[in-house]
Amino acid sequence: MSVSSSTRPRRLLPPVPDRALAENVTAAFTDAFDAAPQGVWIAPGRANIIGEHVDYVGGRVVPFALPYATAVAVRIRSDDVVRCTSTGPQQDWIGRAGDVGPGTPSGWAGYAAGVLWAMAYHESIARMPGADIAVTSTVPQGAGLSSSAALECAVALAVAELSGVATDDAGRAVLARDCATAENVVVGAATGLMDQSVSLRARRGHAMVLDCADGTVEHVAVDDVNPDLALMVINTNSPHRLVQGDYGRCRTLVEQACARVDREVLDGATEVDVQDVVDLATLGAHHLRRPLRHVLTEVRRVHAAVGRLRAADLAAVGPLLSASHRSLRDDLGVSSVELDSAVEAALGAGALGARMIGGGFGGSVLALVDAADTATVAEAVLRRAHDDGLPRPRFLAADCAAAARRVY
Ligand code: GLA
Repeated sequence: MSVSSSTRPRRLLPPVPDRALAENVTAAFTDAFDAAPQGVWIAPGRANIIGEHVDYVGGRVVPFALPYATAVAVRIRSDDVVRCTSTGPQQDWIGRAGDVGPGTPSGWAGYAAGVLWAMAYHESIARMPGADIAVTSTVPQGAGLSSSAALECAVALAVAELSGVATDDAGRAVLARDCATAENVVVGAATGLMDQSVSLRARRGHAMVLDCADGTVEHVAVDDVNPDLALMVINTNSPHRLVQGDYGRCRTLVEQACARVDREVLDGATEVDVQDVVDLATLGAHHLRRPLRHVLTEVRRVHAAVGRLRAADLAAVGPLLSASHRSLRDDLGVSSVELDSAVEAALGAGALGARMIGGGFGGSVLALVDAADTATVAEAVLRRAHDDGLPRPRFLAADCAAAARRVY
């Protein structure tokens, strides 16, 4: 699938080629540290076709890597000093390996230094090394597109390659776990494993069906087999924040609700009367009814979507996207005015399906559209945001990109 340049909305954020990102981050490294890095690694942000708020309870998710990425230039040091610099507005951070741990450093450096800590914690590497790390990124921050996972994964891949740690798919699954630990423990955001897994394990042109119960993946072709369709990411420019507590509260409810049902019912393939299961499982716990209904219906939508994707019928996934959005909005309560507005405008302008993606409470929408309609849909979304007095959305290319990689 591709969006021809004539049908691309004019305001599409252009992906930056790996080479240009690498040059940019190498220059930042040299400026900051007065030496050359040992290499440059790039890891992508992600979108998610379907399977939201189910990764941390062992559900299946269907994310894909975006052509927007974070690049890191890295040099491992012989001492224990860690220095992080960024081409963005973020402050540089300098510390020692011993300074890094749960809650420190706070801010963006927690993601980079946190990965070094987590790799040592899980014994993927013998000890936490000192390192100089420069960062640049084209993944919009706070847009629900996993800019933090992209940073973690780029650092993890760099350290793994420089330390002789396996980076085949099995090795990358381990690195994804290490990155999630960095985010959960050092940064303190209780996220699941979806974002790091897709950033490290995706395949170009494909969506990745990840079974979060056992970590297995299946790559389903999306781009080439659906040439007339386009996936479009709409960044509503209303930032989400995973560490502020909404996500964690939601996760706790979902986990409590899921603990009340059998594993087979949660796998999405078992036929059940969802409402019956919900009624029975949440007797005396009314507040768990809606979270449970979201999970039970979402895993069933994932099951249906995977079947349609395997049959190369992306168009038939459209109604499942819209149903997923309604569930996230009405049952889980993680949508926002901006997200609802973008979804409604896209559907009103002929999108085959649309939904909020990621943790929610702001961020981005994924819309499935006829490739010929991308400009019309984009205009409708812009007009609606303007009429509703909301921030101006931006549009991103959503071709399925490659996983994290070394540039040089
Ligand atoms: C965020 C988290 C993921 C996942 C999604 C919701 O992106 O990082 O682990 O839980 O929210 O599906």
